Amino acid sequence: MTQHKNIIANGCDVYYVIRGKGPALMLLHGFPLDHNIWQGIVDEICDHYTVILPDLPGAGKSTLPDDLSIETMAAAMGDILKQEGIDKAVLCGHSMGGYVALAFAELYPDRIAGLGMIHSTAHSDSDEKKEQREKVIKIISDGGKEPFINQMITALYSDDTATDANLSYTRDIAMSTNEAALLAFYKSMINRPDRTSTLQGAAYPCLWIVGDDDKVLNKNVVLQQSWLANVNYVYVLKNCGHISMIETPKTSVTYIKDFLVYCYDKETVRD
Ligand code: MLT
Repeated sequence: MTQHKNIIANGCDVYYVIRGKGPALMLLHGFPLDHNIWQGIVDEICDHYTVILPDLPGAGKSTLPDDLSIETMAAAMGDILKQEGIDKAVLCGHSMGGYVALAFAELYPDRIAGLGMIHSTAHSDSDEKKEQREKVIKIISDGGKEPFINQMITALYSDDTATDANLSYTRDIAMSTNEAALLAFYKSMINRPDRTSTLQGAAYPCLWIVGDDDKVLNKNVVLQQSWLANVNYVYVLKNCGHISMIETPKTSVTYIKDFLVYCYDKETVRD
């Protein structure tokens, strides 16, 4: 059964979809997208798990609060889980969604059963990245949303997976995000702190999915973080850029399911 729900969290009307039955998995989309990016993998997961698919505040059907930050988004995710009576969940975040999942892990270390960093990083923005983002903020503020989205969407894919269908699917979602939200997301990402120390010795297991052809994140920088938690599942996907759940859905879902088995059934896995 698919349920469409919402919650008022920190003055924001946050929309989410909830499907399936069993231990909880929350899937957090990246910038400038919404929960629909998980469409190609969720059917296979919800037979055995409760899957929660929010639109982050400002994205999709959720409204934009005045004080958007990675931390307020993480707190809103905590409110959703509370509303659903879920004490503990695995959170897998794609890129910006990974920044939110990691902030959630920092806020609520006892409520996370596993953390998935899908094309994401614990590092804060470098000075160079902040400068690039400031330029984009100016471009969008001057009316340049469409050319920015076109360039950004192309960069999500490897050369092999940048098909017209994939590009137009993600482009349509991105174009439906309004300018104010795009700017607020960029400011939130500029302001996020380095969270390497949150991962250091983390007791919950971590999943790392890295694209061999990622044009957005430096895969080596990400791989250097992939030993910080106590238990890490690390995968580097060939012919994949920054958005594996769309580029290589079958492989992605296998890795996520294996990770869920470990998170929720560690004893069985070890036997
Ligand atoms: C994303 O895919 O969410 C963004 O590329 C993240 C970022 O710009 O840091």
